[in-house]
Amino acid sequence: MLPDRQEGKAITMEKPFKLMERASLPPKNGQYLPVASPPPTGQYAPIADPPPQIERQHPSIANPIIQALKVVKVFDTGKVKVPALRGVTLAVGRGEMVAIMGPSGSGKTTLLNCLAGLEEIDTGQIIVDGTDIATMNDKTKTEYRARHMGFVFQFYNLLPVLSAVENVELPLVVSGVNTKEARERAMRVLALVRLTEWAAHKPAELSGGQRQRVTIARALVNEPAIVWADEPTGDLDSETADEIITLMQDLNTRHGQTFVIVTHDAGVGARCQRIIKMRDGQIIDDGLGHIADPRAFVGDGQARPIVQ
Ligand SMILES: Nc1ncnc2c1ncn2[C@@H]1O[C@H](COP(=O)(O)OP(=O)(O)OP(=O)(O)O)[C@@H](O)[C@H]1O
Ligand SMILES: [Mg+2]
Repeated sequence: MLPDRQEGKAITMEKPFKLMERASLPPKNGQYLPVASPPPTGQYAPIADPPPQIERQHPSIANPIIQALKVVKVFDTGKVKVPALRGVTLAVGRGEMVAIMGPSGSGKTTLLNCLAGLEEIDTGQIIVDGTDIATMNDKTKTEYRARHMGFVFQFYNLLPVLSAVENVELPLVVSGVNTKEARERAMRVLALVRLTEWAAHKPAELSGGQRQRVTIARALVNEPAIVWADEPTGDLDSETADEIITLMQDLNTRHGQTFVIVTHDAGVGARCQRIIKMRDGQIIDDGLGHIADPRAFVGDGQARPIVQ
């Protein structure tokens, strides 16, 4: 994203006064040039301080809907410990559409699960819509998710015995909406994803793209403030993938819903307002000018198990 940043190359070669001068100039194409600090000796790579103007202006700072502070998550399998998140700090603004990208195993899904309260964290803090999710009990968390969050996850499979419309209305029924209203709203969202005539069909009778659109309809039916998507276009051909992202962009623009999309597809990333890059359980670039020094990272970017 940044024109003069090259992966794996040091970015501290310019004279300090030159960097200061550049940091105080208006951003080029909305982006500030990186001001990196020297690499730390240990594994942990701090992110450089941002220019103060960004802090004031950006919606993720001015009006955040999701905030993570130094989040650590270690999977302990008994034999090994996998540090999947190693001090992740980030904010997403209300109404932002952001992509999370990074190598396989870098912690993207874990981050999404933790932010959505599906996974417990070890240390740190996650604040969603002003509430620290650690203060919520399981019941409150589940209710909050049903009312305010939508999920486009591949493991959030559609129920095979239910028709498309029955799958879509499920979150409404769970939140206590009466059946007549739930059906009407489900049909409206199915129309939005152009599946009206497929409403009575079961998932097995639909194509991969149609099934994914049912999943998206189900994620959107209760008009959630936040939609989490993990590889929403992973199994789709490029044309259908394009349609799905266009639909998400449209909803984001028209309804101001926040979208957090994990993707390996650079094309999808490019259509989001911001790309957050992960590596080895950390954020190396939050798309706001906070960039870790690439020399602090070696290898393929995966979180490595530690044998106990
Ligand atoms: N339930 C689990 N138990 C143990 N280790 C896990 C578990 N879930 C994830 N991990 C480990 O945590 C690290 C991060 O995994 P994660 O699924 O978040 O990566 P990812 O960035 O989503 O990768 P991909 O792009 O392949 O989906 C990996 O090393 C993975 O092996
Ligand atoms: Mg994943």
